[in-house]
Amino acid sequence: MSYAIIGFGNIGQALAKAFARKGIEVSVATTRDPESFAADAAAIGPTIIPRTLAEALKADVVFLAVRFEAHPEVAKALPAWDGKTIVDVTNAYGVPPEDLGGQPSSKFMAQAFAGGRLVKGFNHLGAASIAQDPAVQGGRRVVFLASDDEGATAEIGRLVENLGFSPVELGGLSEGGLLVQARGKSWGQLIFKDLVKFD
Ligand SMILES: NC(=O)c1ccc[n+]([C@@H]2O[C@H](COP(=O)([O-])OP(=O)(O)OC[C@H]3O[C@@H](n4cnc5c(N)ncnc54)[C@H](OP(=O)(O)O)[C@@H]3O)[C@@H](O)[C@H]2O)c1
Repeated sequence: MSYAIIGFGNIGQALAKAFARKGIEVSVATTRDPESFAADAAAIGPTIIPRTLAEALKADVVFLAVRFEAHPEVAKALPAWDGKTIVDVTNAYGVPPEDLGGQPSSKFMAQAFAGGRLVKGFNHLGAASIAQDPAVQGGRRVVFLASDDEGATAEIGRLVENLGFSPVELGGLSEGGLLVQARGKSWGQLIFKDLVKFD
């Protein structure tokens, strides 16, 4: 399984730190030449590989760590998303619900990545929390996952565990998934709830 993080700002770099902590290779890409952020990637760890967007999008699992408004631009960089899993880390806070046809933001986004399987995850945590060691006082920091594809949820759940976090499945994007989606200027009830699970 190969991984990429699209967007290398606050959240992209925090996710990269989680991958680096476990020695898992991940490509990172923005709109810029990879040389321009190579030093930042190297500072995080040797498994963080700067690439062009086109190269990074060859990965099986693509984390979207860009502003919600930038997702159509990323989506059109590939003619088809079949066989790929997209992890939507965005928060559509402030996006008018009518711009999304009243749909949950991830449901709206999934249409742009036709053929791919979309999982919402990691977006309820601030970048500083994602960047920290998820092993907390004998427990593991929780990552909520929501998707309309149970197989994709299970796949990302295994990755979440490999990264040292504890996955908690919320169900479909329009059901439990609403708890982790901003709508207009309101936040889903689980957003910013930094929880730890003790097994
Ligand atoms: N900050 C947080 O604590 C936090 C927490 C949870 C969720 N989120 C969500 O995570 C997302 C990213 O937030 P952030 O704070 O990390 O934003 P940010 O610091 O502004 O980083 C955004 C990144 O996306 C890249 N980018 C923009 N357009 C792109 C495109 N078309 N293709 C590829 N890369 C592109 C930018 O690079 P270039 O412009 O240089 O290409 C930049 O590296 C947002 O949706 C936000 O709501 C943020």
